[in-house]
Amino acid sequence: MLLPARPNASAAAGARAAALGAARVVALAAALVTAPALAGCARDATTAPEGPGAPPAAVGPPRTAPPDLAELGSRIFDDRGLSLNRNQACASCHDAAYGFTAPLPGVNAGGAVMEGSIAGVFGKRKPPSAAYATFAPVLHRDPGSGDWVGGAFWDGRATGARLGIAAAEQAQEPLLAHTEQALPDAACVVYRVTHSTYASIYEAEWGRDAFDIAFPADIDRLCQQPGATVPLSGRDREQVAREFDHVALSIAAYEASAIVSPFSSKFDAWKRGLATLTPEEARGLALFEGKARCAVCHPSGGDRPLFTDFGYDNNGVPANPANPALLADPTYRDPGLGGITHAPDDLGRHKVPTLRNVDRRPSPGAVKAYMHNGVFKSLEEVVHFYNTRDVLPRCGAAAPADGGTGAALARGLPPGSGDAGNGARVGIDCWPAPEVPENVNRTDIGNLGLTPEEEAAIVAFLKTLSDGYSAPRQP
Ligand code: HEC
Ligand code: HEC
Repeated sequence: MLLPARPNASAAAGARAAALGAARVVALAAALVTAPALAGCARDATTAPEGPGAPPAAVGPPRTAPPDLAELGSRIFDDRGLSLNRNQACASCHDAAYGFTAPLPGVNAGGAVMEGSIAGVFGKRKPPSAAYATFAPVLHRDPGSGDWVGGAFWDGRATGARLGIAAAEQAQEPLLAHTEQALPDAACVVYRVTHSTYASIYEAEWGRDAFDIAFPADIDRLCQQPGATVPLSGRDREQVAREFDHVALSIAAYEASAIVSPFSSKFDAWKRGLATLTPEEARGLALFEGKARCAVCHPSGGDRPLFTDFGYDNNGVPANPANPALLADPTYRDPGLGGITHAPDDLGRHKVPTLRNVDRRPSPGAVKAYMHNGVFKSLEEVVHFYNTRDVLPRCGAAAPADGGTGAALARGLPPGSGDAGNGARVGIDCWPAPEVPENVNRTDIGNLGLTPEEEAAIVAFLKTLSDGYSAPRQP
């Protein structure tokens, strides 16, 4: 990295914030059959390691290895039957065609929060990508800086401390969350998996025990009832907990596999000497690692960079006025990591997301949303924000009565889409106030001095991070 690393990207943190390789996740998850403890495994690489089951060295069709557990995970990930109303799967909010994030351009263009299995019930945040998520280390404090590193979710609340893989612990939450798949009891997940079209794969991977659980006769009815608890014997309840972990580890194996996390972008091909960056893309990469300071938090070095240091920052992102949580409560502010640690210093901080597949979409016009609340709708807007957050005046500054949020945003207009109430255009003439004013990073973000051409070059570079690049045929 060309820049002085910030504390939680230090060498020590790098080693700890290191990737848990695809192969390791899968091997460890498989090993759980016989060894029920994954916690405490050492992490000793700064990028995804090579190894059996790791992504192929050459760009090409992703290998489907390791077939069994990842295949099972993929079936679970795509199974709409694993929701209260049998209408929502993980894939409903994490679609491959959108880089494993939300697939509805209409939603992305507005509040950016997906509806759950129950009509009219919404969460509060934009789905981040489910790809490359298994590489996050268990949430921990960097011993040097004391900064939080790792975990899954924008606020790191799926720590990974119990299963050793943050993404596996993460996978259990949406299945039971009222705002998402909304199944009332983990027993419903196990029951429906063991009665699915892929039950035989489950049995082959995890054995017969799940099939011996004595579910009550009315389980089908109970599992369609929000808030229900499935009555089970103490022994069966314990077995359900073990099987629920198996479901989670299967999903993590899929997410870690070369299907979801293939390292097959043009950037990866370029790293391997199999593709050439255009002059603009190469300029964008140099800026990304230099003047624009992106790599401070989204490191790009090493063989398989993940474009996140798994640290937490408050970028000073404005609130998304169309967020259902804000519409329901005008005082809503997302506390981020601070909501988990309850430390004032963590308020407004969100986990640095991977930038892999940040532009991946099925067609150029399909809108994607960016940041924890999806307030930005294009990469151009994101980069312009990083460049000018502290340069442009505050929207609504002329009318401090509105708290500086900007009249346009108060009316539900996203940045860039209209005037801020006094003829000023959001994101062009002014930026709204941060959603959370505390702890805003002013060292690396806000006034980068980039020209419009430089902003465009960075966007061109970000577009090289979409998986599925096929190198032009060699002569
Ligand atoms: C209704 C939409 C929805 C469904 C269904 C859903 N997710 Fe998510 N997912 C989200 C949202 C929103 C977040 C961010 C929530 C937060 O941070 O509080 C998220 C976060 C994640 C993350 C964290 C990524 C990271 O880097 O921290 C992973 C991984 C993930 N989901 C995988 C899954 C899996 C696996 C399933 C199915 C078991 C699933 N999701 C179902 C919306 C959804
Ligand atoms: C100080 C650390 C830091 C720096 C420097 C930084 N980022 Fe980020 N980036 C983050 C964090 C944290 C988020 C999530 C913030 C949020 O959601 O509130 C983020 C989010 C993003 C997103 C949205 C991704 C998504 O899935 O929603 C993009 C794109 C992005 N950054 C690109 C860049 C680029 C390009 C640069 C350089 C111009 C850069 N970042 C510099 C920390 C940083």
